[in-house]
Amino acid sequence: MTTPNADRRSVFITGAAAGIGRATALTFARKGYVVGGYDIDEVGLKTLADEIDQMGGSSQTGHLDVTDSDEMARCVGEFAEAAGGRLDVMINNAGILRAGRFEELDVAGHLKEIDINTKGVVNGLYAAFPYLRDTRNSVVVNLSSASAIYGQAELANYSATKFFVRGITEALDIEWSRHGIRVIAMWPLYVQTAMTDNIKTGTTDSLGIRLTAQDIADAIVAATEPSALRRALHQVHFPVGSQTKVLVAGSRFSPAWLTRLVNKKLAHS
Ligand SMILES: NC(=O)c1ccc[n+]([C@@H]2O[C@H](COP(=O)([O-])OP(=O)(O)OC[C@H]3O[C@@H](n4cnc5c(N)ncnc54)[C@H](O)[C@@H]3O)[C@@H](O)[C@H]2O)c1
Repeated sequence: MTTPNADRRSVFITGAAAGIGRATALTFARKGYVVGGYDIDEVGLKTLADEIDQMGGSSQTGHLDVTDSDEMARCVGEFAEAAGGRLDVMINNAGILRAGRFEELDVAGHLKEIDINTKGVVNGLYAAFPYLRDTRNSVVVNLSSASAIYGQAELANYSATKFFVRGITEALDIEWSRHGIRVIAMWPLYVQTAMTDNIKTGTTDSLGIRLTAQDIADAIVAATEPSALRRALHQVHFPVGSQTKVLVAGSRFSPAWLTRLVNKKLAHS
């Protein structure tokens, strides 16, 4: 950590070496936050730390496999202590995606996807709780996805993991409100990152891959600093991009058979 300072807000980000996590780390650093960037990719973390250093920001980076609850507890604890005992924002971002027909992908890969995308979030929430509780106006941001609107063909297992993220977000936002902790979820549609580099499904064909990592980073920062109206409305889920907003609104008002039909058509299935 270059400049520990208990007066500065702090943010812990999993999967910070690349993609959405990296763009988010840099965006919070530009806003003056002390940034904790953690990932299994230590080469990517080194360049992230250098970039934050060059902009005069403060960061601490380190190896973290989100599926390892002991390592998660150690990393979150060390970071929060170094940041003056405070944790303002916890971002459970690390995730993987495997696309294809369910039975054609190997089962070990399905289970790994569940471990990282769901157990990784549980580990992050559990480790961060005491520090979030002791920090005023703290917030958790979980990376869900537009695939949590309706189960997605060719992304069945991934989509199911994002329903898990949706559920745990809603429940803990209620449960932890007595501790003053907001728990929210971001719902992007496809984003141009390494995750989507080589994927081709019915919905990538029909909807395209339009969002950038910076679009999501900006939406995350805005969601952690809500307007008075948003705070009063207590928004929990944040669809990102106009396509996602239309799909979310459509799914709320259309009957189940129509939602299924639209999803089937979009998936070309
Ligand atoms: N890219 C999209 O289209 C999209 C859309 C909606 C939601 N999301 C979600 O956003 C999050 C970030 O996705 P991205 O597009 O930036 O992906 P990405 O592949 O660009 O980056 C993911 C990062 O997570 C790290 N990671 C993977 N396994 C890890 C583990 N076990 N422990 C710690 N770090 C690990 C990787 O090393 C990488 O740096 C994911 O949760 C993803 O599901 C992505």
